[in-house]
Amino acid sequence: MAEVLTRTVVEPTDRLRRLRRTEGLRALVRETRLAPEDLIYPLFVRPGQNFQEPIPSMPGQFRFTVDRLDAEIEEVVRLGIRAVLLFGLAARKDPEAREAYEEAGVVPQAIRRIKAIAPELVVITDVCVCAYTDHGHCGIVRDGEVDNDATLPVLSRMALAHAAAGADLVAPSAMMDGQVRAIREALDGAGFSHVGIMAYSAKFASAFYGPFREAADSAPRFGDRRSYQMDPPNAREALREIERDIAQGADIVMVKPALAYLDVIRRARERFDHPIAAYNVSGEYSMVKAAAQLGWLDEARAVMEILTAIKRAGADLIITYFAKEVARWLRG
Ligand code: PBG
Repeated sequence: MAEVLTRTVVEPTDRLRRLRRTEGLRALVRETRLAPEDLIYPLFVRPGQNFQEPIPSMPGQFRFTVDRLDAEIEEVVRLGIRAVLLFGLAARKDPEAREAYEEAGVVPQAIRRIKAIAPELVVITDVCVCAYTDHGHCGIVRDGEVDNDATLPVLSRMALAHAAAGADLVAPSAMMDGQVRAIREALDGAGFSHVGIMAYSAKFASAFYGPFREAADSAPRFGDRRSYQMDPPNAREALREIERDIAQGADIVMVKPALAYLDVIRRARERFDHPIAAYNVSGEYSMVKAAAQLGWLDEARAVMEILTAIKRAGADLIITYFAKEVARWLRG
């Protein structure tokens, strides 16, 4: 037996462990690196004054009123993060989502405030009406169904309100067919040809949006989102969604969620040359936070491993609630 074991031949070229021996060597041959510039930090903005309200299901995340944003924005900039993604909450919900496109709504106000204190920070806005409709769907409901074509003008008006306030990119997330074309035409027609579109192209109907819906108060009051968001088993269809959004004028395309869809990110990377964003969504954040709070895993290592995997799969940009922490860890 011992004789058999000693006879095993490890050829000199078999020794891949050589390059793993020290941290210096490992750093030298590391294939994927995260940087603060890769990250987009989501922020929730609510109506009212003087609130920085913790979101219970997303430890470390808050809903801010516009007058309380400054310190958060200054910290984001100080940490080297280059972009934020804004989500608005409604004061008054109605069936037509009127507040979503008010020029003086919370999101336009937040954009103006951010541009006043940090003009170089890229401001991206979510364009979807689920937080503004009383039924909580991402579109206008007619006869009990989410009406695709009736929703497009509302999304376009919302994008215009954000562009007028100074948004750099608008990010349609309603999963209505033709939303990118409608918004592109509206922007161009109103003198906003410089405002880009980051399209939530392959957005799946996912259980991992749970905490977000609490944060944004945007859960549907009836039914679910499966008639417009994608069916999780479908990867080829995700490529068709991305292809259509590119044809309609998307500047950046997105896969969402990230972790359960790394294969989709990889396939999109191989097929398309547009920048690809991946959304490390609320549920992916909260499950790591919960396990870390219980002492079940090392949060920093788990987060770095997850975000590195998303980048390794092919994402250029990662939207993540961990952005500030990661930027801090990267500085050491
Ligand atoms: C709006 C929207 C959602 C998310 C981003 N934009 C919720 C949803 O589609 O239900 C989810 C983000 C997250 O979970 O972090 N439609």
